[in-house]
Amino acid sequence: MIEFDRVSFSYGARRILKDVSFSINAHERVAILGESGGGKTTVLKLTLGLINPDAGRILIDEVKINDKTEDELRPIRMKFSVVFQEGALFDSLSVKENVAFYLREYTRMSEQEIDERVKELLRMVGLEYAVEMIPEELSGGMHRRVSIARLLAAFESKMFLYDEPTSGLDPANSDIICGLIHDLSKNGKGFVMITQKVTDAIKVADRFIVLKEGMIIFDGQKEQFIGSTLPELQVFLSELSLVLKSRSCIGS
Ligand SMILES: Nc1ncnc2c1ncn2[C@@H]1O[C@H](COP(=O)(O)OP(=O)(O)OP(=O)(O)O)[C@@H](O)[C@H]1O
Ligand SMILES: [Mg+2]
Repeated sequence: MIEFDRVSFSYGARRILKDVSFSINAHERVAILGESGGGKTTVLKLTLGLINPDAGRILIDEVKINDKTEDELRPIRMKFSVVFQEGALFDSLSVKENVAFYLREYTRMSEQEIDERVKELLRMVGLEYAVEMIPEELSGGMHRRVSIARLLAAFESKMFLYDEPTSGLDPANSDIICGLIHDLSKNGKGFVMITQKVTDAIKVADRFIVLKEGMIIFDGQKEQFIGSTLPELQVFLSELSLVLKSRSCIGS
């Protein structure tokens, strides 16, 4: 579904991605890991045609998206449900109105139907009680969950894209979001989760792509990732083993 074919991208003179190639199917559960500033969000922006590569091709469902017009890009972008890193809700609207936003935009539902659908979506993310709250009353985790509910209201996409869905959240809230990401992929609809938190990625993803200095240094299944002896991966793997160790201490 998403194919990068020898993609390079620079901001001015600064090379962000160098010769990046990968191919992801719509049903896959993929984590893209990498250091801060390593080009992860750039990959997401390129996938959506928000920016264009300097070299190489990006194909979505076998259609090359570079140099398409905004009108041509719209149906391509609608193949994805995207939770952006900023995850911004509309501050002046209640939780209900935030979730209802795309329903009003894209459908002709009656007020009562919108009411029911909003409640159903908020129930899915465990926030039915927050329907009348405004964004500033929400915790970071709640905020993120409302963004996901709003996204689910939008349209039937083929794949989810999450940019740092658990950044800035405490472990309990990160777990809730990971649970949600996992549940939403149960019917075979895959996702790409961009993250710096390997301990969250390991809970939900089957395939790991690691970026370093603009290049892919690893692309493989979870077992290969965990067992890798690649020196550049040890920083992630040691974080993982620390968490696993501390869990087994608690358990014993
Ligand atoms: N609009 C822009 N103009 C110039 N440089 C930019 C722009 N957007 C991002 N960059 C730079 O490109 C690099 C890659 O950015 P990107 O957002 O892809 O990183 P990231 O891996 O998502 O980082 P983080 O984990 O902090 O979100 C960063 O060094 C950033 O400073
Ligand atoms: Mg980013």
